[in-house]
Amino acid sequence: MRIDGSVALVTGANRGLGQAFARELVGRGAAKVYGAARNPAAVTEPGVTPIGLDITDAERVAQVAAQCADVTLLVNNAGVLKYSTFIGAPDTGAARLEMETNYFGTLSMCRAFAPVLAAHGGGAIVNMLSVSSFYSDPFTASYGASKAAGWSLTNGIRLELHHQGTLVVAVHASFIDTDMAALATNVPKDSPESVAQQTFDAVEAGQVEVLADERTRTVKAELSRDHELIYPPVQEFWDSAVAGKS
Ligand SMILES: NC(=O)c1ccc[n+]([C@@H]2O[C@H](COP(=O)([O-])OP(=O)(O)OC[C@H]3O[C@@H](n4cnc5c(N)ncnc54)[C@H](OP(=O)(O)O)[C@@H]3O)[C@@H](O)[C@H]2O)c1
Repeated sequence: MRIDGSVALVTGANRGLGQAFARELVGRGAAKVYGAARNPAAVTEPGVTPIGLDITDAERVAQVAAQCADVTLLVNNAGVLKYSTFIGAPDTGAARLEMETNYFGTLSMCRAFAPVLAAHGGGAIVNMLSVSSFYSDPFTASYGASKAAGWSLTNGIRLELHHQGTLVVAVHASFIDTDMAALATNVPKDSPESVAQQTFDAVEAGQVEVLADERTRTVKAELSRDHELIYPPVQEFWDSAVAGKS
């Protein structure tokens, strides 16, 4: 699919990776870029049309799909990370918020925009996932569950929308240098611009998956031996963190 001349909608376009996605789309000649955000006044990227949207509000999602009926490229970027464990968290509030946003919010967007994309010959959906889709880490446990659900969702809608010619792209990344990863220090981080460039290169090439960095590529390659290769260092790191606290 060509970005030049496309009409795109990016969720969470007010900051971080969403802003980089919107900027890259404008740079590649998209005819129109809707920048969706809970606070549309915070969407300040030149050339981007602000639109108010909380992706967990299904009624508003439906309104936006009706209002933006010219969209040919949907970028589901909005997400939350609460750094919450499964067992040690005080309650399931963080897990529910992450699932409500990262999984159900993205699902609502895909459902609302599938007919819009079909009306324009198929178009494309980009779902922003994570290396956390592939394995569990106690530091980001419930977030990982929501991104694993998002990975399954992405594979599923690709199958369901194949008949209408919609390209469905999964983007997995390790740390990206945004507010979300601010707590992670002394780790390599992708730039938002690099993730945005790789994403739209994939859309233009018709590729269904982006593994944005070396760590993400390594983890995906090791999945068939995850209990030998992926989980032992995660366990060791978690055990030493727990021991350090006691
Ligand atoms: N940063 C990383 O290390 C990393 C790595 C892999 C994947 N990702 C994924 O990349 C995407 C973008 O994250 P980021 O790094 O740019 O994080 P960020 O800087 O925290 O930005 C998150 C964006 O999502 C928006 N958002 C959250 N809940 C929303 C809702 N219910 N409705 C509409 N918008 C909502 C936020 O809006 P407000 O400003 O209103 O809060 C903000 O625009 C997320 O899906 C994230 O999971 C990030």
